[in-house]
Amino acid sequence: MVDDDATGAASTGLTDEAMQQRIDDLIAAMTVEEKAGQLTQYFYFGFQRDAEPHQADGSQDDGVPNDATGHELLSQPATVEAALGRGEGGSLLFVTDPAEINRLQRITVDGNRHGIPALFGFDVIHGFRTIFPVPIAMAASWDPDTIEAGQAIAAREARAVGIHWTFAPMVDIARDPRWGRIIEGAGEDPYLGAAVAVAQVRGFQGPAVGHPERVIAGPKHFAGYGAALGGRDYDEVNLSESELWNVYFPPFRAAIRAGAGNIMMAYMDLNGIPATGNRWLLVELLRDAWGFEGFVVSDANGVRDLETHHFARDLTDAGARALAVGVDLEMAIADPAYAHLPEAVAQGAVSEEALDTAVRRVLEAKFRMGLFDTPFVDEDLAREVLNDPDHRVTARVAAERSAVLLRNEGALLPLDAGSLRSIAVIGPLADSRRDILGPWCFDQDLGETVTVLDGIRARAGDVLVEYTPGVRPEQRIFPSIFDMFAGNVPQDPADFDEAAEVARAVELARASDVAVVVAGEWQNMIGENASRSSLTLPAGQLELLQAVVATGTPVVLLVMNGRPLDLRWAAEHVPAILDIWYPGTQGGAAVANLLFGDISPGGKLPFSWPRTVGQVPMIYSHNRSHDPKKQGERYWNEASTPLFPFGYGLSYSSFEYTGLSVDPSVVVAGGSVTVAVTVTNTGSRPADEVVQLYLHQRYGSASRPVRELKGFRRLRLEPGESRDVPFTLGPDELGYWNAAVRDWVIDPSTFDVWVGGDSTAALGTTFELTEG
Ligand code: NOJ
Repeated sequence: MVDDDATGAASTGLTDEAMQQRIDDLIAAMTVEEKAGQLTQYFYFGFQRDAEPHQADGSQDDGVPNDATGHELLSQPATVEAALGRGEGGSLLFVTDPAEINRLQRITVDGNRHGIPALFGFDVIHGFRTIFPVPIAMAASWDPDTIEAGQAIAAREARAVGIHWTFAPMVDIARDPRWGRIIEGAGEDPYLGAAVAVAQVRGFQGPAVGHPERVIAGPKHFAGYGAALGGRDYDEVNLSESELWNVYFPPFRAAIRAGAGNIMMAYMDLNGIPATGNRWLLVELLRDAWGFEGFVVSDANGVRDLETHHFARDLTDAGARALAVGVDLEMAIADPAYAHLPEAVAQGAVSEEALDTAVRRVLEAKFRMGLFDTPFVDEDLAREVLNDPDHRVTARVAAERSAVLLRNEGALLPLDAGSLRSIAVIGPLADSRRDILGPWCFDQDLGETVTVLDGIRARAGDVLVEYTPGVRPEQRIFPSIFDMFAGNVPQDPADFDEAAEVARAVELARASDVAVVVAGEWQNMIGENASRSSLTLPAGQLELLQAVVATGTPVVLLVMNGRPLDLRWAAEHVPAILDIWYPGTQGGAAVANLLFGDISPGGKLPFSWPRTVGQVPMIYSHNRSHDPKKQGERYWNEASTPLFPFGYGLSYSSFEYTGLSVDPSVVVAGGSVTVAVTVTNTGSRPADEVVQLYLHQRYGSASRPVRELKGFRRLRLEPGESRDVPFTLGPDELGYWNAAVRDWVIDPSTFDVWVGGDSTAALGTTFELTEG
């Protein structure tokens, strides 16, 4: 298990002063070329790819994918190794095999006349070997402890193989589910987003950079990436000042306060200026106002992109401008722009001091991670860590805690294994090892992955469990950049007669006591480079579901997803709907425990679930505006309310909220209020509830949202048990960024406060806030 007692002190035995002295000495001895090399991070693919990598231009010449202009998308191993051998490789990414990491580290250390080792980074997003539920699912647990424990395990596994740094957490607020990367974040809300960001930084990194079993955390993508125009990944972002400060920045601010050692810049233009070259973001905000002292990395090819965006004149200009605003490390897919830094320094386009500052930050990270003392990893130990059975148990518990029960008519769930004779399991996603893991995993062990079908079979005892897929996967029209990884493109079964398969599924459902239909998106339909113009169930899954429901056999729908899907029909016709997300390595076992009632679902939605794509973006924390009584009738053709509200999730038990109190009822600006409520489990099963507090300011120097989450707590209650739950609302919760005064303000006002199990909570009271 993760060693929680480790101090978290930097792995280097040096005092800060001695470390800075060594860095001074190194910088003094380095050439400009060597310095530029320290600031370069190369992709290096050291693991299995499909034999025929996808290339946008269709060619297959050298096994390296090209873009449409014929530019190579991936660094060639030989080119990278040559740079390492010349002492010009500061960092690598995408190497995950410990033997390979040791080999490349040897080339680096031997090739660098100062003996500077390379920093290895990787996208450890929701697990390394043990795959946890995808990040949006972990956020749905509303449980910082579960999230922290999961990322601590991910860090432990990654560090064991020699990875020092993860490009995570993604703390981008996402309010448009067409954007595939909604799956990587914590959803729409800044308060929940900040809490999840902190838990992830603590899990990945521990209390400070340098813990021997953890990795550097790199919150990304700074800033605003989630608001891509039209939900189209990589497209520009235009955000108001109020949205930036009140919604998009808080998770970054929280992650930095939690000690994150790195920040990754976003790809896109923010209000017309590329984030990677944005002085206001990088210098005025991140460094000067927030005091961030770690190192900053570009996104992949983000520095070259300054030229692509038609912001920089050429690559020399791109490199000089990114460095000048403090992008310390360039993540380079190929031909780094930072290779032009010596030229830029010679031309006076950027100062050597700027170069030295960036080198210092990168070297500091290497010292703090103990790389100068321990550049290599113990491969036997790595194997042991990756096989730790405790990691799998924690992943299963996380999957159980993240599932959200959306509907349960007639208490169809939980199923009673004792009274059932047969279960039909239907849908291709029920039996897909790769898909249950979700996107952004590369080193999983498919052999040990438990599918929904496996999990039900293992848990159902003597009940007959039969399976049929019913439909075939739908294929993307435009392939994904991740298609080159083995197993990522869903297999299309040969000679698949869909009409016959649907008929077979109907027969099976008819002959069974209950049908469990698993439907959603294949994992390559969501994530980076996976924006979508609709939210419907892909392939023929809706028609399959309708045909199965028409048999009259009770149906449980398990939704496998990372974004809200159009469930309008299901929400009316399918009695039980459980959102299982992509629940990971142990997902099937967790789902079975939930289905059979060993555990009651306790997750809650981290976003408002729209009815249809035409409603997006849809948020619960909108402003009040004209004619609020008709908020639900903004469209003439359909309700403008969500299908399921933010914070929503049912349980096998039930809860009652009573005794809401505020103390004091009049608070002076700068002070705090305690809001307390009593929560009782009024059902007959032990179960978890997420108690949520929402706040609204009735008047002031700006219009404020109808309600905003300002507190939450996940509790376990036995049947009949009551618990008093206090919340404190202080200046952080009561204030907000006012775009007119361009500062944080606390307005004297009347505040409404509600506490309950979702964002429609009706139990409310008020308090007054007066001028100090
Ligand atoms: C591009 C993605 O935007 C970023 O999130 C990721 O960390 C890098 N590629 C590296 O894989």
